[in-house]
Amino acid sequence: MRELALNILDIAENSVKAGATLIRISVKAEGEELRIEISDDGCGMDAEFLKRVTDPFTTTRTTRKVGMGIPLFKMAAEMAGGSFSIRSEKGVGTTVTATFLRDHIDRAPLGDLSDTVVTLIGGECKSEFVFEVSVDGKGFVFDTRELKAELDGVPVGEPEVLVFVRDMIKENMIDIGGETL
Ligand SMILES: Nc1ncnc2c1ncn2[C@@H]1O[C@H](COP(=O)(O)OP(=O)(O)O)[C@@H](O)[C@H]1O
Ligand SMILES: [Mg+2]
Repeated sequence: MRELALNILDIAENSVKAGATLIRISVKAEGEELRIEISDDGCGMDAEFLKRVTDPFTTTRTTRKVGMGIPLFKMAAEMAGGSFSIRSEKGVGTTVTATFLRDHIDRAPLGDLSDTVVTLIGGECKSEFVFEVSVDGKGFVFDTRELKAELDGVPVGEPEVLVFVRDMIKENMIDIGGETL
């Protein structure tokens, strides 16, 4: 089974490609629901295009080559008793929301979120990221703008910085009881 952290990586990479300056990633487990939301201020999509990226199988006759990042995330949510939606506006941005029943037997595990964080922030891109994770009311926020202010000019992509961030995310996940999500 695929890990949801990999779905998050895929969807956030779309935001990077869309030229977003700010990407917010939220993972929230509350009661019986797990809710994952990725929102950006990138180039957005128009309504007609959006319909095609969400349901690639209904559009095999179009000439556009369609990827699978969005349909796979949608499928992961729907097979776990959840829901999926994308709101997007051309020139404004995009928000992808997926919900899951936490205890559904077909719900993929979250997996290693610290890997996803490090891969995203270590990439060559102009996007800033805000990660917000909470489990039953306990949570943490990690904002690359705050990290950069502390780093005083040291690039985020430096290996020591990425190791520091990975360890910090892992520790935070353990603290809030999120490592087994
Ligand atoms: N956040 C986004 N902002 C703008 N366009 C997007 C966004 N997410 C997806 N898209 C568009 O939808 C397409 C399909 O995305 P996806 O299903 O992840 O497949 P892939 O990334 O492999 O093309 C992308 O190629 C892109 O054109
Ligand atoms: Mg993609």
